Amino acid sequence: TKFTVVVPAAGIGKRMGADCPKQYLLIAGKSILEHTLNNLLAHPQIGRVIVVLHPDDKQFKQLAIAADKRISVVTGGEERSDSVLAGLNAVDASEPWVLIHDAARPCLHAEDLTKLLKLAEQGEVGGILAAPVRDTMKRANADQLIIKTESRDNLWHALTPQFFPLALLKFALQTAQIQKIAITDEASAIEQYGGQVKIVEGRASNIKVTQPEDLFLATSYLSPLAAIEDK
Ligand code: CTP
Ligand code: MG
Repeated sequence: TKFTVVVPAAGIGKRMGADCPKQYLLIAGKSILEHTLNNLLAHPQIGRVIVVLHPDDKQFKQLAIAADKRISVVTGGEERSDSVLAGLNAVDASEPWVLIHDAARPCLHAEDLTKLLKLAEQGEVGGILAAPVRDTMKRANADQLIIKTESRDNLWHALTPQFFPLALLKFALQTAQIQKIAITDEASAIEQYGGQVKIVEGRASNIKVTQPEDLFLATSYLSPLAAIEDK
């Protein structure tokens, strides 16, 4: 079976501070969004991608990849969760599972995606890719004085893709929206609702391009050399 991925790409990239939304910045001659879509569409278990765009987006249809028949486009909303819901509404209701993957994560590795997709056969409620926290974690007060050192045990960085049964995710996001609970990722919507979300360990190189310096990192992770090193 093949899965559908919703790719929220309706953000404006405020923290990047570029003169266009960050998903259209180029790395090695291709936009970040094209890298992201190519990674997904190159995977044998991905059948369709729904890209969620800003209402004023003029750039997407100029990309070569926009002609790919496996891609559909919908309009997003104010918050990321609004954009994700708009995307989910465009997924065929008969599909049992759905993936959500940030447009701003162009360095997803195929092996990590394969590992996440195995959850569909394992009777899990759903799950996310995540990377273990490596730095020493400090809890501080409002004056930035350290209160204590937090244990790193069982602490993870949440990444995407996030992978859930379609009906469950829709219900959880709609409920959060009605109750005005702010949701930063799909898992948090499911957690609110008491769902047991599984962590699947993925590569820390699956960064979200957020600030200018992240472009250097993404560029090196996307270079052919990185693929050799990774073997
Ligand atoms: N996103 C979206 N709709 C929104 C906000 C964000 O589809 N209303 C998407 C972004 O395009 C991005 C992903 O969600 O691919 C993760 O969001 P983030 O990294 O915060 O991107 P931006 O919101 O664009 O950046 P910033 O917060 O710095 O403005
Ligand atoms: Mg944002």
